[in-house]
Amino acid sequence: MSAPGRHPHPEPRTSDPGPRSLKALGIETSCDETAVAVLEGDGRVRVNLISSQVAAHAPYLGVVPELAARHHLEALPRLLAEADRQAGLADVEVVSVTRGPGLIGSLLVGTCFAAAYAWARGLPLTGVDHLEGHLVSPFLDLGGAPARPVPSPVLTLVISGGHSSYFLLEAGVARPLNRTRDDAAGEVFDKVAAALGLGYPGGPVVDRLAELGDPAAFAFTPPRIKDPTGALDFSFSGLKTMVIREAHRLGPTPLPDPGNPPQAILDLLASFRATVVEWLLAPLDELAALHRPLVVAASGGVAGNRALRARLTAWGRRAGVEVLLPPVALTTDNAAMIARAGQLRAACGELDDPRNLVAYPRAPWKATGGPRGKPAFPTL
Ligand code: KG4
Ligand code: ZN
Repeated sequence: MSAPGRHPHPEPRTSDPGPRSLKALGIETSCDETAVAVLEGDGRVRVNLISSQVAAHAPYLGVVPELAARHHLEALPRLLAEADRQAGLADVEVVSVTRGPGLIGSLLVGTCFAAAYAWARGLPLTGVDHLEGHLVSPFLDLGGAPARPVPSPVLTLVISGGHSSYFLLEAGVARPLNRTRDDAAGEVFDKVAAALGLGYPGGPVVDRLAELGDPAAFAFTPPRIKDPTGALDFSFSGLKTMVIREAHRLGPTPLPDPGNPPQAILDLLASFRATVVEWLLAPLDELAALHRPLVVAASGGVAGNRALRARLTAWGRRAGVEVLLPPVALTTDNAAMIARAGQLRAACGELDDPRNLVAYPRAPWKATGGPRGKPAFPTL
């Protein structure tokens, strides 16, 4: 499937290593969070450290790539020393790092740092796809329990700033079942929040304000995707435009007092959040009937959304299917999920040469094809 010599293992995988894998150090620097974690061989999370850059990027309402790379460079040695103090790095057996997709400058800082560390200590190294991390995150615990084995098949909704897709995890391989035609779910929360002057990232603040509004106050027309192979695809940019236009009709935007929005705006945000959640869960019945998953999971920053968590949990109860959600702290970018994805790869012998670890800004695989459609991972 991969182009020879370029990305040896580009497809996201989640192979089950059995009861014991290697004690892992995980490093994540794909976007604006610098993260370092240590996992025991059974996937128990010993430390999960994150240095957030939110304050540095907030004035720009988005991530500034050069600032992000510089912050990673400063933060990594500090986080590594802290991880050593808390969990001891002397007996770490494998180093796992995100090699893509993401901001290339940030990825280069992380991959060079991880490769140098592994090489200097003579430890095996494994580069993982950021998406693999999100896919394994629902199986991790922050309360001291070992990671759960990944059953087969699992249906997972990955919803973040860059992804909005259902994936089928079967026999260690992840296959995308749909995609968004325009904005990702997290992106649409960020853009609506930015237009209203609510700051960045927008998801958490919209989620909090939506609790104070009436989700039935506004109704939005769902998108119509004409292409029959994309019947289950998402589209959020029309909703974003409708919400921003409605906010503008209600009063000045950005809001003059964003800390204290009027009730009509709270109602608008509650209706917006309910609509995103409804549209995200709309393909669930059909996909579950088709693939008969043992577990339905969600991951990525938007999986921390309160309404999404409540609705998905209620769906599972109704459908009689186990629903697994990561702890909220592991929905957004973190290194525990990267360490776990690395453990799973290393257990299958999928290691990388520290002198030749290639970072990639864009996914080398593509989310094409519907549930019954074309090959999931076309040749690069
Ligand atoms: O997974 P993540 O940390 O980074 C990416 O891989 O993109 O996701 C970040 C995204 C942002 O767009 C953020 O606004 C959104 O997740 N997000 C939320 C919530 N918490 C984070 N969206 C809705 N509700 C939330 N509670
Ligand atoms: Zn992410």
